[in-house]
Amino acid sequence: MEKQKRLHIITYGCQMNVHDSEKIAGLLQPEYELTQNLEEADFILLNTCSVREKAEHKLYSKLGQLKSLKARNPDLIIGVCGCVAQQEGENILKRAFHVDLVFGTNTIPKLPQLLEELQHSRKDSGRPARVVDLSNMDWQEPEANVVRENRFKAYITIMRGCDKFCTFCVVPFTRGREESRPSKDILREAQLLADRGVIEIMLLGQNVTSYGKRVISHGERIRDDLSFPELLAALNEVKGLQRIRYTTPHPRDLSQELIAAIRDLPKVCEHIHLPVQAGSSKVLKDMNRKYTKEQYLEKIQQLKQEVPNISITTDIIVGFPGETEEDFQDTLDVMEKVQYDGCFAFKYSDRPYTKSPELPNPVPEEVKEARLQRVLDLQRKISLEKNKSLLGQIQEVLVDELNSKFPGKVTGRTRTNHIVTLPGGPELLGRLVNVEITEAYPYRLAGRLISSEVGSRV
Ligand code: SAH
Ligand code: SF4
Ligand code: F3S
Repeated sequence: MEKQKRLHIITYGCQMNVHDSEKIAGLLQPEYELTQNLEEADFILLNTCSVREKAEHKLYSKLGQLKSLKARNPDLIIGVCGCVAQQEGENILKRAFHVDLVFGTNTIPKLPQLLEELQHSRKDSGRPARVVDLSNMDWQEPEANVVRENRFKAYITIMRGCDKFCTFCVVPFTRGREESRPSKDILREAQLLADRGVIEIMLLGQNVTSYGKRVISHGERIRDDLSFPELLAALNEVKGLQRIRYTTPHPRDLSQELIAAIRDLPKVCEHIHLPVQAGSSKVLKDMNRKYTKEQYLEKIQQLKQEVPNISITTDIIVGFPGETEEDFQDTLDVMEKVQYDGCFAFKYSDRPYTKSPELPNPVPEEVKEARLQRVLDLQRKISLEKNKSLLGQIQEVLVDELNSKFPGKVTGRTRTNHIVTLPGGPELLGRLVNVEITEAYPYRLAGRLISSEVGSRV
């Protein structure tokens, strides 16, 4: 019998990349089994992200580290996929001679074939061939054949690509045009997952609020599919599922119907990640976000009014070209007004193909750094206050992992997506439990078990 081949995947970037890696692992089974151990891998794949600065630099330095492995084992295959692969293509082979394979974000289904080509050419010529393939394929989501990291929580792709073209963002160039997946396929996958014991699903798309606009099935455009709130309503009926999350909604497309869906559908969690990016309406205009500070705050107001316990998180970019101190004050003002539960903050960086690098008045690095620090400091304060307000409350927690730092403890998330640690062991894994919150820190909560099973929402 041939030796079992091993695949090691290193994943950077967003949930879409994490889920692509899970699909890739599924696609290559049974020929390749996943390994956590780099040293024993026959195929090392880097699934890359290009959204912020130094993405390329990070890739090449990681590739540098892999050189010695390749020198020891010439049969080792090193591959690069994801957003930097889509962006850089051939250049990666030119800069890193030990890379064998580069493939694009929509080339994933072809991977088994590409690997076969590589092996064949090696056998035939004795010389290692090198392959670049960025072809844009029509592909059906694999559904059953996915190697998921977590048994209780699962990602489901509902759309690919992005058509928004925010002026700072590389994603429309690395992921291509927006396409939604037929709702019947999504519902089938959700049911399949629920039947296997999955309790929580996370719907993935760069703009889930645009879901249903361009639905593609087997390469053909189909008509009359559900809107995003209708999709949530249909998923709410899937037997066995208990929680539905989604990322990322776009503030511009956040509709009354969606707010009502969050309010009315019991399985849809009371958490929304609604990236504001900046507080100043002028900066938002230059970013092509297509909403003003006031419109954003108005939507937040409606959300809070309809779903009083909703938790809200965001993404913020500081130092966008032309951002003055006054503009930046608007960002801090939005943070004060919204009182976000959490925030990912980034220093602006120029990305290839995007428009913002052409804008006048770039912000000096030290100003960006100082603004980032101010955002982080303010958020730390707000998060701590918000977390403290949960002290003494009973929260429903889905326990999903053993706590690696503190033996004898487990970790899970509330419906509002707060991280909670509590005493317990493997018997709690995959259970929805009631927890009394007893300690609050800026980025996590701690609590104690009140009851070990919460009634089903079905
Ligand atoms: N589709 C999501 C965001 C995807 S990118 C949305 O529209 O909200 C994830 C985050 O990276 C963005 O929200 C933004 O805050 C950050 N980001 C994207 N491009 C960036 C750039 N050029 N510089 C700094 N941060 C950036
Ligand atoms: Fe990027 Fe904007 Fe699309 Fe989000 S909506 S992926 S920030 S272009
Ligand atoms: Fe990064 Fe691509 Fe996701 S650029 S954030 S991995 S869509």
